[in-house]
Amino acid sequence: MSTPPAGQHLASILTSKGSPLSLIHRPTATPGPNELLIEVKALALNPADNAQLHLGILIASYPYILGSDIAGTIVSVHPSVTEYKTGDRVLAGVSAYFENANNDYGAFQKFVLAKKWAVTPLPDGVSFSQGAMLPMAVSTAWNGWFGLEIPRDTKWQPEDKKGMLVWGGASSVGSAALQSAKLMGYVIYTTASSKHHEYLKSLGATHVFDYHDEDVVRKIVEVAKGEGVSLDIGYDAVGQMHSCMGVLKEFKVNGKAKMAEVIPSMEDRDKDGVAVRNMKMPRDSPEAFQEHFHFIFNVWLKDKLESGEYVPSPGLQVVEGGLESLPKHLDTLKAGVSGVKLVLEI
Ligand SMILES: NC(=O)c1ccc[n+]([C@@H]2O[C@H](COP(=O)([O-])OP(=O)(O)OC[C@H]3O[C@@H](n4cnc5c(N)ncnc54)[C@H](OP(=O)(O)O)[C@@H]3O)[C@@H](O)[C@H]2O)c1
Repeated sequence: MSTPPAGQHLASILTSKGSPLSLIHRPTATPGPNELLIEVKALALNPADNAQLHLGILIASYPYILGSDIAGTIVSVHPSVTEYKTGDRVLAGVSAYFENANNDYGAFQKFVLAKKWAVTPLPDGVSFSQGAMLPMAVSTAWNGWFGLEIPRDTKWQPEDKKGMLVWGGASSVGSAALQSAKLMGYVIYTTASSKHHEYLKSLGATHVFDYHDEDVVRKIVEVAKGEGVSLDIGYDAVGQMHSCMGVLKEFKVNGKAKMAEVIPSMEDRDKDGVAVRNMKMPRDSPEAFQEHFHFIFNVWLKDKLESGEYVPSPGLQVVEGGLESLPKHLDTLKAGVSGVKLVLEI
């Protein structure tokens, strides 16, 4: 594709459900109040991109620009934004979905508008590609904690022996849930293929079990009971609700356990004494919504990335070929990845 004319940039656009992504030149947006414009250096791919592409989920109108995870350099800021300046290296959670299908906010293009509450500065040691891995995974982990009503300032001590079951620790979302729960002091029990066990222990897991083992539920229960760990709370990152519940129902406190499920099979419900909760974000008011993401991106992630307490996870797999290569990489993701996030550098 030719070089874009002045004031325009390259974008990958979806014209209808399931149609091939195509490249276009489109006008580069100007930030409005609370916004900044980012020149994208790296963008990550998520299962949600494939769901939107093939099923049209959460697309209010076409044409539509997919994508939610970016990192890059700020090229302009609205005067109302004092926290960031041109030239800052940042990651951002963006989405046309949250902006009524306004394509200025979709990630699959060279220049993207971001809201200041969904932006995190990149410390010197964190690359653009590592930064792009984080927005969806970290915000989904926190949306789970919010759905479970876990206070942000939770800090269990080792002697509390308070366990957290994270099913699917090698997934992007699962590794973010693992790390964030570990920082709240939970003793982490997680599942993954055996090749990822040492890595997940390096992220903070105390015990990792191979989910291919047909006896895995019994083994988790046995180890936790043997160590006196209360495993009455869980985060299902990969759609394995029955296995999670099989563990949690053995640890009910006052007849209750609770788990977050990342793939909602139904509405929130209580089953066998286990409260099953979907991912949640505050929707009562725009202020509450913004404050939720301000905490995640501007406060918690900023602090934990700077201190090195949180590291980009799982593995990084950089893919190449520019925006035109996105269909190929989305197919790779759809076929299944193991312990890596696919990131396109542009
Ligand atoms: N509700 C929301 O807001 C929301 C937001 C984001 C994502 N999601 C959903 O969350 C899911 C995870 O997304 P993601 O990007 O984190 O996925 P991902 O990284 O692509 O997931 C791949 C990983 O899943 C693991 N896995 C697969 N089956 C497993 C099983 N039965 N038990 C344990 N681990 C298993 C694999 O582990 P091994 O390598 O060890 O085999 C693999 O590493 C997707 O379905 C996505 O659509 C929902």
